Amino acid sequence: MRVLVTGGAGFLGSHLCDRLLGDGHQVIVLDSLFTGSKDNIAHLLGRNDFEFVRHDVVQPILLEVDWIFNLACPASPIHYQYNPVKTVKTSVMGALNMLGLAKRVKARILQASTSEVYSDPQVHPQTETYWGHVNPIGVRSCYDEGKRVAATLLMDYHRQSGVDIRIARIFNTYGPRMAVGDGRVVSNFIEQALRGETITIYGDGEHTRCFCYVDDLIDGLVRLMNYEADNAHEPINIGNTREQSMNELVTALGEVMGKTLTTERRPLPKDDPTRRRPDTTRATERLGWKPKVTIEEGLEKTVEDFRRRGVGA
Ligand SMILES: NC(=O)c1ccc[n+]([C@@H]2O[C@H](COP(=O)([O-])OP(=O)(O)OC[C@H]3O[C@@H](n4cnc5c(N)ncnc54)[C@H](O)[C@@H]3O)[C@@H](O)[C@H]2O)c1
Repeated sequence: MRVLVTGGAGFLGSHLCDRLLGDGHQVIVLDSLFTGSKDNIAHLLGRNDFEFVRHDVVQPILLEVDWIFNLACPASPIHYQYNPVKTVKTSVMGALNMLGLAKRVKARILQASTSEVYSDPQVHPQTETYWGHVNPIGVRSCYDEGKRVAATLLMDYHRQSGVDIRIARIFNTYGPRMAVGDGRVVSNFIEQALRGETITIYGDGEHTRCFCYVDDLIDGLVRLMNYEADNAHEPINIGNTREQSMNELVTALGEVMGKTLTTERRPLPKDDPTRRRPDTTRATERLGWKPKVTIEEGLEKTVEDFRRRGVGA
């Protein structure tokens, strides 16, 4: 297959490229390098089966491809709130452009959607049939609502024009190549721990998240892209179901690093959801998918990667 990965120079996108090339596909990456980096794909540049194109998905492009993984979009709050109007454009116009391409060349398209479409959920755990509880005018709305519109567009292209779509609702994912300084909780904690600093906890540390290791997530995306059935267009949650409080995460990190970490508390940011956990029954039943990597294994690999990149040196 010739596979297009938008956002392929980012954290998840670069791991997806590794996996697709390993599976024998040809890969084209489109990335504006807004939050991504050529470092993430440096080991792939120069291969015959890999191409990198610096391109903003807000602009249309014509390519001959069989599959499109649409991942282009800043994913951490400090990045997507930096230019919220651009974030909405990236999600909405990026999806429109990629859907137009998919329709024209009859490609299958997978959208990297997010657990943020559930926002601050009132149903727990979140099943795909839950519509979410989203503030449409808050500081996180550019991301949440942008992703919701993108999914709407996918469903409408599917219903109206028969475009072959896949929608992955990705929950918190961590691992090597997460951007340093992106403000996400796992990278924040690791950076502070490696620098010997006090760990910052927002709120009382009892709010929870589920953390999925990147290899597990990528395996879920590839399984979903390969999934063939009448219901293949329906959204599927992909994420780890083990719920952990921020305090527990600090303890696990301390154990992995072999040191006692001290913490300080700050107020919770606006609209930050207090709990989130995926119901992954669909992913298990339809895709045969289950995460395999434990938080301890995943943290170890991530800490190692941050060390290798010189954090705390
Ligand atoms: N990492 C997670 O936990 C998570 C959770 C839910 C959903 N997602 C989704 O997965 C995708 C990848 O996330 P990530 O964690 O790898 O983030 P990331 O910021 O590392 O990667 C996003 C990539 O998109 C590129 N990009 C941004 N705007 C662009 C534009 N206008 N045109 C072209 N390229 C552009 C960036 O340069 C970057 O390489 C995103 O769509 C994100 O919303 C991620």
